[in-house]
Formats: sequence, C-alpha cells, structure tokens
Amino acid sequence: MTGWAVAGPSLALIKYWGKSSSADNTPATGSLAVTLAGLESRTEAAFDTRDSVVVNDEPQPLARFTPFLDNLRRELSLGDQGLAVVSTNNFPTAAGLASSSSGFAALAGAVAALSGSSLSRPRLSALARQGSGSATRPVYGGFTVFDAGATAAEPEHDEAFWPEFRVVLCVVREGAKATSSRTGMESSRLTSPYYGRWVETSPEVLAEARQALTHRDWGRLGPLVRQSYLRMFGTMFSAEPPLIYWQPESVALIHALAELRAEGYQAWETMDAGPQVKVFCPADQVRKLVAELDRRVPGLRYLTAEPGPGLRTGRKE
Ligand code: DP6
Repeated sequence: MTGWAVAGPSLALIKYWGKSSSADNTPATGSLAVTLAGLESRTEAAFDTRDSVVVNDEPQPLARFTPFLDNLRRELSLGDQGLAVVSTNNFPTAAGLASSSSGFAALAGAVAALSGSSLSRPRLSALARQGSGSATRPVYGGFTVFDAGATAAEPEHDEAFWPEFRVVLCVVREGAKATSSRTGMESSRLTSPYYGRWVETSPEVLAEARQALTHRDWGRLGPLVRQSYLRMFGTMFSAEPPLIYWQPESVALIHALAELRAEGYQAWETMDAGPQVKVFCPADQVRKLVAELDRRVPGLRYLTAEPGPGLRTGRKE
C-alpha cells in the first residue's frame, strides 16, 4: 500500500518571516501567497521497518524529518511504524523556489493518504505547518492567506480567480542555498534591530494587499509586493552576521525590472531565502518581458507559472 500526494510550491506576495512560536511553528507575520501550477513535488509514502526519506534520488539526513514524521504518526494514530518516503521535485530544490512548501505539504498528504484517514483541508494544512510554515498554504490552490499566529492557512481566491496572473521565475543559481529560511528568520529575529518594526508594520501591508488582490489591481498590489520583500530583506541585511542571499544577477534583474516598469510593464518582483527573482505580471506581457530580461541580464533560465490547484492525494496497492 502506498499513499501519494502532489503539491505545487507556494510563492508569497506578502512574506512570512519570523515566528510567533518556534515550538508551534506559527508565523509572526501573516503571508499572502499563490500556489503555482506546473512546478510540483510528487511524494509517495509506504510503511517500512524504519524511516527513510529520499528527495530527487538523494537519501536525506533524517534530523529535519523525524519530528515531522513523529507528529504525523501521533496525529494519524500510526503507532511506531516506520515510513519510507520518496519525493521528486520537477524544479530546483532548496534554492529559494519554495520547495519546502510543496515538499512538506506533499509529505503530509502522502502519509495522511497512506493512513487511510480522510482529513479535512484545515487539518492537513495544520499538519503541514509542522514541517514548514509555508507548507500550510499549498494545501489550497490559487491565492491563500496564512495569518500571523495562525495554525493553518486559509483559501483566499481559487486558481481561476485571476486568469491573467502569471509568475516568471528567473533562476539565477541552481544550487541549494547556504542558509535555510528557518535559520535565517531566527537570526533576523534575534539580531536585527529592524525585526520588531518589520513585524509591527506587516499587518497593514497584508490587509492592503488583500484588498488590492480582490480588485485584481496591479497598480496597488505591485508596490505592496515590493514593500514586503524589501522590508523582509532589511531584517536580513541588518542581522548579525548579515544574511545576503542576493547575487549580482539578482540585483541586475531588480534594476532591469524598475526600468521596464518605467516603460509601462506591470512586472513586480519578489525574492525569498535565495538568489532567485520571481516576477508577477499579466499573461500578455510574459513573452516580451522575458525577452527584455534575457537581453539585459543574459544567461539565466526562466520558468513561467500560473496559479494552480491545491494538494491532491490518493492511495494505491
Ligand atoms: C521567505 O516556510 O521555509 O519563503 O517554517 O521555518 O520551515 P519554516 O520556514 P519557511 O519560510 C518561508 C519564508 C519565505 C517567505 C514565505 O514563503 O512566506
């Protein structure tokens, strides 16, 4: 018997960075995110004599997974059975393309499916949180909100809500990142003098962005997206030691996008705990935008995605 699940990465327009409780893995700042189609984590789980986790054919150290698997066993009444987990991402892993969001959502879904219990989406979202805060969100498709202090994400608008909405992922580096989000956000909390203001000013940005999204208003949403990621990076740059995920090409892309906006593009970038730049823009601008970016910052790989469905799960013999 095998449980399987497929989840897309959850890319935040408004960022979660910092925890209100490390023990519960609840966020200090609320996030607004989109679940992406086409990019996927596919995970299978089966009972075994002991735990094992293989991601993209690489056996993983269990330290990052054991507390999560223990919690799943407890919540799903699986006793002390071992779990053999095999997962593949069809996009760069741990490089700031949100693979931990899709990975832990798919892992929670696969083990829940294996257990045979039919869990509600709020329950799955809360289970996925124990693996990664951002993994609460892609349990739902389309646009999602994970509020400050909350234990699960909530659906905001489904994947059909804004048919013209696209994300262009500019892959600056393919390798895994040096510092995980978990370590980075804790370091920001403990050492950045700006962390407190980041947390205090986040609710207003989130509330305004939710409004702007409801109206599908690029002109209002875009500057809020930019404000959220740059304020978040303010806490990273000012941490001790500083966290600098950006690479020269990341900065070149940020400048290129500002120039392109001045020429009329509605293309608004964001970044996460890695060097990649992700650009939100209308579908009819994608082709020319990628050509312009490629001309100004040559040699990068570009992926395009649209809002996608939430977690899918099943069981097979
Ligand atoms: C910058 O969800 O990876 O991508 O809960 O510690 O596993 P943990 O952190 P994680 O952090 C995501 C941070 C972010 C912003 C976001 O996705 O909201």
